[in-house]
Amino acid sequence: MLEFADKMEILTRDRSARSALINRGNDFLQKNIGQGDYIWIEPATGKEFDVAIGARVISAEGRRIQVRDDDSQEQWLAPERRIKAMHASSVQGVEDMISLGDLHEAGILRNLLIRYIDNLIYTYTGSILVAVNPYQILPIYTAEQIKLYKERKIGELPPHIFAIGDNAYAHMKRYRQDQCIVISGESGAGKTESTKLILQYLAAISGKHSWIEQQILEANPILEAFGNAKTVRNDNSSRFGKYIDIHFSGNGVIEGAKIEQYLLEKSRIVSQNPNERNYHIFYCLLAGLSNEEKRKLDLGNASDYK
Ligand SMILES: Nc1ncnc2c1ncn2[C@@H]1O[C@H](COP(=O)(O)OP(=O)(O)OP(=O)(O)O)[C@@H](O)[C@H]1O
Ligand SMILES: [Mg+2]
Repeated sequence: MLEFADKMEILTRDRSARSALINRGNDFLQKNIGQGDYIWIEPATGKEFDVAIGARVISAEGRRIQVRDDDSQEQWLAPERRIKAMHASSVQGVEDMISLGDLHEAGILRNLLIRYIDNLIYTYTGSILVAVNPYQILPIYTAEQIKLYKERKIGELPPHIFAIGDNAYAHMKRYRQDQCIVISGESGAGKTESTKLILQYLAAISGKHSWIEQQILEANPILEAFGNAKTVRNDNSSRFGKYIDIHFSGNGVIEGAKIEQYLLEKSRIVSQNPNERNYHIFYCLLAGLSNEEKRKLDLGNASDYK
């Protein structure tokens, strides 16, 4: 342990000792690498957001290495190019990123990428679910899938948004405590879709089916019409924050819901940025008005407002 601590000291304190050690590691790797091995190629520039990229070795002749990287680019690596061995867990990908051997940003991004290529959009990091927007309808939200995830522990089955819904529901019932699911991500990441999937799951598994569950689900398109609009990043961008409270009875049946909305982007009603639109309801309104009514209100056709 002491020896390790001493070496760490050298690594952090003495920059030249550190780069000498890294170079020795690079030399060793370059000499021992073979066709079919996976490596990390460190970025050539030192820009803030650059990360290493994964690559498969196509051929290795001495210190000359030819690779095909994760962007499908084939290249010969200059001998001075920094490379690192890839941990076996990063080669095939893992369902829970806690078990990644390469715990760095490049490792996480590669894991999500290779799963995404196989249409596996969900990945855990412990009890956190990472979802990558598939931009296509995947057959993973069926009634069979709902049944499959019911009363199963996180990690028992492949990562899925239904497992998160089920976990919250099971904890609420078992511990009689309120549960909260936080969904975050950049615009267009899939927060609204994920929220709807969780609501759909809770409505399906929470026992007796009543009109209240249906109402909660059906309120969504109306709320979206008043609060969502096309932006350059998302055709159905929520321009407000939403906090949904779902109330359950003692035996876990949905009894009601309270949706709190805040910070609606009001400026969009009167002006929009290029290639963006007003709230969806504005176009619904135009579609429903007669020509006479539109004339009175000094409004044109939907196509006039893009
Ligand atoms: N799980 C999914 N399956 C299929 N398509 C999806 C999924 N998640 C998102 N999408 C697609 O991506 C689009 C954008 O997703 P969504 O509206 O949920 O983003 P958001 O995170 O709520 O963005 P914003 O912050 O702008 O409101 C959806 O309209 C849908 O076409
Ligand atoms: Mg949204």
